[in-house]
Amino acid sequence: MTCFGNIGRLPVAEYALTHQVSPGGRDDFVRDCPTGELKLDEFQNIYKQFFPTGDPSKFASFVFNVFDDNRMPLPPAPTSVVPRLPDGLHLTVAGLDVTIERMVTHGSRMRIYVVEAVDGRELVMKELLPVPRGRKGRTADWERDAHEEIDGHPAIVKYITSGIYREDHRRFMILMEYAPYGDLRNIIAKYGRVNYFTAWQFFGQIVAALGHIHSFDRVHRGVHPRNVFVFSEGVCKLGDFGNGAERKDFHPCEQRIQVSQSNDVRDAVTTLLYMVFGQMPSYVFLEDLKQLKTVGDASKLLHQHGYADLMPASDLFMLKDHYDVRTDRRPIPVGYVRHYVARDGFYEAD
Ligand SMILES: Nc1ncnc2c1ncn2[C@@H]1O[C@H](COP(=O)(O)OP(=O)(O)OP(=O)(O)O)[C@@H](O)[C@H]1O
Ligand SMILES: [Mg+2]
Repeated sequence: MTCFGNIGRLPVAEYALTHQVSPGGRDDFVRDCPTGELKLDEFQNIYKQFFPTGDPSKFASFVFNVFDDNRMPLPPAPTSVVPRLPDGLHLTVAGLDVTIERMVTHGSRMRIYVVEAVDGRELVMKELLPVPRGRKGRTADWERDAHEEIDGHPAIVKYITSGIYREDHRRFMILMEYAPYGDLRNIIAKYGRVNYFTAWQFFGQIVAALGHIHSFDRVHRGVHPRNVFVFSEGVCKLGDFGNGAERKDFHPCEQRIQVSQSNDVRDAVTTLLYMVFGQMPSYVFLEDLKQLKTVGDASKLLHQHGYADLMPASDLFMLKDHYDVRTDRRPIPVGYVRHYVARDGFYEAD
């Protein structure tokens, strides 16, 4: 059996904390662990003595990991292992020749470069690195599939092409159009609040993009100023499809959902408020927004937070419905229900 840990070096008082005995309980420790080493299953058994009617294994393994000297170290971030590509590099992605101009930003497993295509167009190249073993995350081709499926809407960042970088197969590149003004956060940081009319125009475009995505039985799950890209004073587009989900990912037998179309719309409302207020509305503001009963309440809320000059109370009251509406019913495409639920014997297909 694998030995996951070694508790022998723990001070007795610390052991007593986890073991729920007084520091005088060293004798118990010696009895339970005569070799001075403690394995995960032994630790779980000790916990079970204190919770005879429940199953504390999960909690015990969590506690065990806190002090386990031998636990597996977290894998390093892929961007710390795979170096960034240099400016000026020529490369070919799915037959399209591009030259790297600069890197805009990076995360733990992605980099964003601005590149120039052979025809002179400036494009964005998103480099996706593999998900480290033992970590959860969307694979690059999942994001590619989402782009390909929903491409073609005027309020969605246009997809150009994608493919593995032939010189280094760890890198998957997605090429898309470049938003010259960056994301909404860049706009607010540079110019401050967005003009009221423009903010609603952008909101309309975000909601239209969501309608398009939802019609493919997908949800975006990342509607946020950092994923709304600005192309001109009147045009923004929704991008970054790396967090989304296909509704058929959900198992139909679970009734409740955490992620749904209405959550996307709710996040679009938060993004609108961000544009109008010039900052993210606080948690308290958003909680109070859900409770509004009258336009008078909305006016009071705007005054309390110093936003009264920025938005008419009637508009905020109208937004309340879009913010508050939530469905906890799992959205299930009919074909999927027939196929899977009938197979599992939960549903009689007609
Ligand atoms: N097409 C684009 N045009 C201009 N800037 C872009 C474009 N795509 C990405 N960026 C910039 O790079 C940032 C990160 O890109 P993206 O959102 O696709 O990656 P991500 O890993 O999903 O990031 P996060 O998890 O923070 O949302 C964006 O917030 C934006 O500032
Ligand atoms: Mg993003």
